[in-house]
Amino acid sequence: MAKRPIGVFDSGLGGLSVLLEIERQLPHEDLIYVADSAHAPYGAKTAHYIAERCIKISDFLLSQNVKLIVVACNTATAYAVEVLRQYLALPIIGLEPAVKPAAKLTQNGKIGVLATRQTANSTRLQRLIDTYAQQAQVFVQACPGLVEHVEQGDFNSTELKQLLSEYLQPLQAQGVDTLVLGCTHYPFLRATLSELTQGQMTIVETSQAVTRQVVNILSQGHLLQSNRTQQRQVQFYSSLQGEGLKKSAQSAALLWQRELALLSLPNEYR
Ligand code: DGL
Repeated sequence: MAKRPIGVFDSGLGGLSVLLEIERQLPHEDLIYVADSAHAPYGAKTAHYIAERCIKISDFLLSQNVKLIVVACNTATAYAVEVLRQYLALPIIGLEPAVKPAAKLTQNGKIGVLATRQTANSTRLQRLIDTYAQQAQVFVQACPGLVEHVEQGDFNSTELKQLLSEYLQPLQAQGVDTLVLGCTHYPFLRATLSELTQGQMTIVETSQAVTRQVVNILSQGHLLQSNRTQQRQVQFYSSLQGEGLKKSAQSAALLWQRELALLSLPNEYR
């Protein structure tokens, strides 16, 4: 059982920010990543659509015999994690914007959250804020368009910076000192965000905390691969095909910071 891989998926390539951390903290685990890029951005889709895609991808991961699934997407977690937990008998770990740590870190009680439109509108995010950030003022900024830039491997073009400046402006006007990256695509924009905010905001994201949770759940279930002789495997799949897949593989290599083979998902899961 412990020898089975860990499955990780996102609407696209953003979840690689989480996979990088899992890869770092768990050097003996085999990993399978699925980017649902043909259906991204989830942030512009209905809850029903998102849940259907999450079930499809989980079915693929089950066919690969995974022992645990990480939903490396805030939007998918907000709209589908409960459905997945009802549907699947294996551990499912979701991701939520880091509102709780931000509430501890803020000095002036003003927190900004950057998220997709669907996450920004979700009752799950509202519940998080009500539970953990009652003492703070939380400004939620929906950021349509950012996911598409990251999917294309664009972290700092002029056009992207303009879009980011537009989204940061209301938060800067409020004097926000702590910025939550509420989408797994956004950690790839961290350097550009720091530059645009002149290092004035503490930037928080969740990949380390989520990975710690993966370690805890696996060790509680005696499912950790502690040692091995052969090299571990990391496999990458996408719902894209043809030219789209080729382009996405180039972006993925940029985000993953090295070469990788991006394979198309079998037909029935695309
Ligand atoms: N990475 C996804 C998230 O964390 C982006 C969702 C989207 O495709 O809009 O929310």
